[in-house]
Amino acid sequence: MVNFKFSNKRMYNLLLSCFFLIAGAISYVEAAVQYYDWTVAYTYASPDCVEKLVMAVNGEVPGPRIDATEGDTIVVNLTNHLPTEGVVIHWHGMHQVGTPYYDGTASVSQCTINSGETFTYSFIVDRAGTYFWHGHFGMQRTAGLYGSIIVQLPDSQKEPFDYDDEASVLLSDWWHKSIYEQQLGLDSIPFRFVGEPQSLLIEGRGKYNCALDPGSNGASPSCLPCNASNPECAYHVIPVEHGKTYRLRIASITSLSSLNFVLEGHNLTVVTIDGRYIEPVVVENLDIYSGQSYSVLFTADQDQSRNYWAGINVRGRVPNTTTGLAVLQYLPNSTDLQLPPSKPPGSPAWDDFDYSLAQARLYKVKPGYEKPVPQSAGRTLILLNTQNKINGHIKWAINNVSFVFPPTPFLAAFKLKLKNAFSPIAPPDLPPNKPDFNIFALPNPNDPSEINANFGSSPYVFKLGEIVDVIVQNANTLNPNNSEIHPWHLHGHDFWILGYGKGKFDPQNDPQSFNLADPPLRNTVAVFPYGWVAIRFVANNPGVWPFHCHIESHFYMGMGVIFAEGIHKLPSLPTETLGCGLTKPRH
Ligand code: C2O
Ligand code: CU
Repeated sequence: MVNFKFSNKRMYNLLLSCFFLIAGAISYVEAAVQYYDWTVAYTYASPDCVEKLVMAVNGEVPGPRIDATEGDTIVVNLTNHLPTEGVVIHWHGMHQVGTPYYDGTASVSQCTINSGETFTYSFIVDRAGTYFWHGHFGMQRTAGLYGSIIVQLPDSQKEPFDYDDEASVLLSDWWHKSIYEQQLGLDSIPFRFVGEPQSLLIEGRGKYNCALDPGSNGASPSCLPCNASNPECAYHVIPVEHGKTYRLRIASITSLSSLNFVLEGHNLTVVTIDGRYIEPVVVENLDIYSGQSYSVLFTADQDQSRNYWAGINVRGRVPNTTTGLAVLQYLPNSTDLQLPPSKPPGSPAWDDFDYSLAQARLYKVKPGYEKPVPQSAGRTLILLNTQNKINGHIKWAINNVSFVFPPTPFLAAFKLKLKNAFSPIAPPDLPPNKPDFNIFALPNPNDPSEINANFGSSPYVFKLGEIVDVIVQNANTLNPNNSEIHPWHLHGHDFWILGYGKGKFDPQNDPQSFNLADPPLRNTVAVFPYGWVAIRFVANNPGVWPFHCHIESHFYMGMGVIFAEGIHKLPSLPTETLGCGLTKPRH
């Protein structure tokens, strides 16, 4: 046993800083660098028994899963083998502190990677949790370009809950139409919506009913081959042993659908949301919106002579897609998988929004695990979401601005001080001239401010460290008596959810009901029909970060904004991120 005697305070401080240096070196040794070589290419696959082109990484559908430990550096050499288009990959939930140029968002953090080129992403996974990666250019995510990122705590740290083993499921929705046809339809007059998905997938597997598509035996050139016994669409299986407790990681990367997840016969104890700890709550079924993740605990304590369904159902839209299914298999039930004897599990009524709102309000931060929320904000934005027509095209607009992607990435425009990359006129902090805007009504044809949305691509600019509140306000769509769910996702940050409300946000009274005691943190929050949500974040991560609806077609139709912060503290940009728009070399 060594006995230190400190002759004076200075000596003590010296020893203390030596200790931290050594401790720092040790944790540096613990953190690994993981290298991946990925090639993006189209491949034939049958995720729901129907064969079509899928945008795959290394031929895998969904793409490869990244398993990391908090603090690891992930290096991905990404080669684009799509024959005719660029590509980028976004690491959803990673905060990219110091590396905003590797956020993987086309027109924001980088130029797209051209066909035939290789680009290297390198970033630190800064937080344990359940995340994913996905394409972030056009609607490439909808083409199948996605996969899981699972980040464990280092061995020296322990989660504030116990479990014996873990499993994960990535949820998605699936269309048989190509994304090019879907995009063209959204751009067309008359508007052609993508429609409800043909299938819901769990870990990339679903089952389309081939009988619905009688011509699809592969013989007819106009129909896609459907083969119900293709092993590519066999049910995903979650094996469990009786009596054990499992951590199930559930993430949703859907393009359109809000989902409700049910594990037949088992309650779920929710312990994390988007990688953040909450006070555990027990639910019978779990709402999950695109862009979100959960960890739930369940104990395999049911009759072990049979198996059970895990199911997902559509919420918030008139469902036209059958339940997506996987099998919870009690070991050692035979390896010839016995399907559960019961019907696919149901969920609350698709339009029971009170149910969803009540469940969203259950989540409270786990005390002692997160920094306290700042008690006031320096700036407040109220973002009114409307559906508009611009030159006859149906678009989404935020405070009357429908977002379009500019040819020059924002990050480069700020760092290289490029003039004319986007309009210097900032977008409005508040709904324009609309104190009496009626969120329940169709736009008033006599009020030009209600019908005149415009295209725009200028960012909101925040000072470094500014505390920002954003109220996202939902309203009627262009269809009477219709308002939709929008899951809003922020890059580069997690935010506190201060409150949800019904109807129109009242800037005088509603802030008094904000939860400033134990609000949960996350990176994606649902805004319910005719309702609002209030979030708060600290603009302390120099970079340019999209804040957008995570529904692929909605963002494609303009439903997003850009937040630029700490622009005087932006790091230098790797030259590989440049080369398009105004960053193209010109002689
Ligand atoms: Cu997962 Cu900008 O999104
Ligand atoms: Cu939306």
